[in-house]
Amino acid sequence: MISNDQQSIHGQWSSRWTFIMAATGAAVGLGNIWKFPYLTGIHGGSAFVLVYILCVAALGIPMMMAEVMIGRRGRQTPINTMRALAQENNASQSWQLIGWSGTLAGMLILSYYSVIGGWTIGYIIHSATGSFSGLNGEGASALFQEFVGSPLIQVGWHTLFMIITMYIVGRGVQSGLEKAVTYLMPALFVLLLTLVGYAMTTGYFMKGLAFLFTPDFSHFSGTSMLTAMGQAFFSLSLGMGTIMIYGSYVPKGTSIASTSVAIALADSMVALLAGMAIFPIVFANTLEPGAGPSLIFETIPVAFGHMAAGMLFGTLFFVLLLVAAWTSSISLIEPAVTMMIENFNMTRKQAALWTGLATWLLGLGTAFSFNLWTNVKVFGMTFFDLLDFLTSNLMLPIGGIGIAIFAGWLMTKDTSHAELNMNTEAGYSLWQILIRFIAPIAVSIVLIHAIGVF
Ligand code: PHE
Repeated sequence: MISNDQQSIHGQWSSRWTFIMAATGAAVGLGNIWKFPYLTGIHGGSAFVLVYILCVAALGIPMMMAEVMIGRRGRQTPINTMRALAQENNASQSWQLIGWSGTLAGMLILSYYSVIGGWTIGYIIHSATGSFSGLNGEGASALFQEFVGSPLIQVGWHTLFMIITMYIVGRGVQSGLEKAVTYLMPALFVLLLTLVGYAMTTGYFMKGLAFLFTPDFSHFSGTSMLTAMGQAFFSLSLGMGTIMIYGSYVPKGTSIASTSVAIALADSMVALLAGMAIFPIVFANTLEPGAGPSLIFETIPVAFGHMAAGMLFGTLFFVLLLVAAWTSSISLIEPAVTMMIENFNMTRKQAALWTGLATWLLGLGTAFSFNLWTNVKVFGMTFFDLLDFLTSNLMLPIGGIGIAIFAGWLMTKDTSHAELNMNTEAGYSLWQILIRFIAPIAVSIVLIHAIGVF
């Protein structure tokens, strides 16, 4: 029998607030500011946004509660947590596969996340040295093409990003970072609002809003549906053990429901603000909304290139984007690192070194997919696209189904009731319905539909 009084050997958050900041730091990242706008652009706008919001509310929040709950009860790396809870509930040991798949997904995601994180470092330098001043849409595209076209530059920034990530992970998620996040996340929020303010002056703000919020399903397909759902998982860091491991450091007695809602709200707000900042600039400069991964790197420089004190604000923006990416990247590899510590008896530093090295190596594939390997395609996708599809659209949703079934059907109601300790019975019943029926069924339907489509 597991007593939920025990603490994780890896540590514990000092308070509920620290957990909210850390989990929000993990959730808010490139997914919100880089990925959400470009996916919205590719999938035609508002319909994608609507499905995304629905997925966050109906699947994301109950799933996040389930993951925090499982993590806090197990208090170990996701693999061992799943093993211990499976044992506690007389379920098959194969449930630990969820932990393995999540741990692997984290490393796969980090391998490409780090390349994009490297782009933010490169763009800090560009901004600080004035490359953006007076830049138009065409100039920004050319600058970006030149930047990603160089394998050496790509590998260089990717390497630096991996080093700073593993440095923090190696030291343990300590108070320095927690404190930094407490100040920097609000700063990012303020800067995003400033950018939205700039977008209002472009004359295309309403067009941007209409693109995001006037329902239009004409460009929406089964794949768009899968992508919107995958993005909800990705953006909230669900289905892969990050929230589970962060949950394992949560003090007993913290309200899981209100904390999860707070994290999901903050995360969605940042994504929507990013969209509201970026699309007016896209339309004002006749850029292509469906440009893909290059979108923010082609629009934001134009905005700052025309703003008073744009050099300062531009630099600041990319610094904060780097911070947002950084606080997410450390969470992506935390399951793998704690697994090496628990299962292979490594020290934290050794674990960080080996998992970091493996991830870096894999990241070279993404770094080259924008230059040397642009034409190397599997199933019509570049190495980067393939990794992204495999993780966000398959591994995270499948992991999510497993977690939902486990939390809803295999853990006893007594346990989940006591762990969640919600204010109202109605709240608990709603969670039960969402986690037992809606989440597994909806995610399965979208997956099956989409697999039938391509
Ligand atoms: N949620 C992060 C983002 O939006 C990415 C992430 C995914 C982090 C999964 C941890 C786990 O950028």
